[in-house]
Amino acid sequence: MSTVESGTAAAATASEKGQRIEHEGILDVRDLKAYFKLRDGDVKAVDGVSFLLEHGKSLGLAGESGCGKTTAALAILKLLPENGRIVSGEVLFDGKNLAKRTEYGMSKIRWKDISIIFQGAMNALNPVQPVGKQIAEPIILHEGLSENKAMVRARELFDLVGINPKRVTEFPHEMSGGMRQRAMIAMALACNPKLIIGDEPTTALDVMVQAQILELIERLRHELNLSFILISHDLSVMAETCDTGVIMYAGKVVEAGTTTQIFNSAAHPYTKQLIRAFPNIHERREMVSSIAGDPPNLLNPPPGCRFFPRCSEGEPACTETEQEMVELDPGHFARCWKVA
Ligand SMILES: Nc1ncnc2c1ncn2[C@@H]1O[C@H](COP(=O)(O)OP(=O)(O)O)[C@@H](O)[C@H]1O
Ligand SMILES: [Mg+2]
Repeated sequence: MSTVESGTAAAATASEKGQRIEHEGILDVRDLKAYFKLRDGDVKAVDGVSFLLEHGKSLGLAGESGCGKTTAALAILKLLPENGRIVSGEVLFDGKNLAKRTEYGMSKIRWKDISIIFQGAMNALNPVQPVGKQIAEPIILHEGLSENKAMVRARELFDLVGINPKRVTEFPHEMSGGMRQRAMIAMALACNPKLIIGDEPTTALDVMVQAQILELIERLRHELNLSFILISHDLSVMAETCDTGVIMYAGKVVEAGTTTQIFNSAAHPYTKQLIRAFPNIHERREMVSSIAGDPPNLLNPPPGCRFFPRCSEGEPACTETEQEMVELDPGHFARCWKVA
């Protein structure tokens, strides 16, 4: 990824001077590193991740549990927990480097420009408050609307996501899982953001409802010209909805390209195994064949290729040096010297 890497140094200098940075797309993440501090050292959860999301497009961020997807999302929004920090890299959103923003600066961006549907959020709704009220909250807070006006907007949003607006007064337990997830999407849309990050937005749902929610996301994306990052451990979800895909393994991007490139010509052995594990969203939602072994401990990742210990195609040389991303076709990259 030579253009990304050479761009990074210039971007770093420009951002130190507080200038707007040359960028592409709506979100241009460059060599982002986000670590967690533990007593024994740093967990390198996101360890040099780069990707580009074009305006109005959707990007899938996929990989097994623990590979750093949620950490990447939280780092983009500067919502890392207490022991987490951005070590280096840029998060260019419309040319502004969010990685350098203050908390105050970020509070102007969250909800209004970028919103996130947190992993498991539909089960984290306040059980003793009507769902509509919970959706009105960010509208009151960020748009300064009166409670009445915010409730009118909440009804509109319910309608937009396919829930009868009359149901704004219902409590979470009166709604099905699919409906609660629609409500979470309504909440993410509350302040008309340009970009939505959905962290495993369909993981807790059954197959039918999962497909409906993905359809809803697709429809909204086109109607509202939204850009979307869809995070999932299930590759088939990405296949269904995303224009481009980024496959992460142990804190690093191992393959990136258009969804077609990834599914029709998967190059990295990890991607190939993931595709085998999640063939089709309409059939099964659990792993049909799990990948043998476990991801490495990110406190002390192995040298060279982090997938080597589980790779059926690996050779001793794979452990010798850090792998670079290799461009196989225009826009299709894999971090494996064997595919070059
Ligand atoms: N607050 C934390 N402190 C230490 N390690 C963490 C913390 N949060 C996540 N991690 C670790 O960071 C790695 C990436 O986690 P995460 O981003 O949640 O992965 P994913 O979303 O892909 O499942 C995992 O090894 C996880 O255990
Ligand atoms: Mg996660």
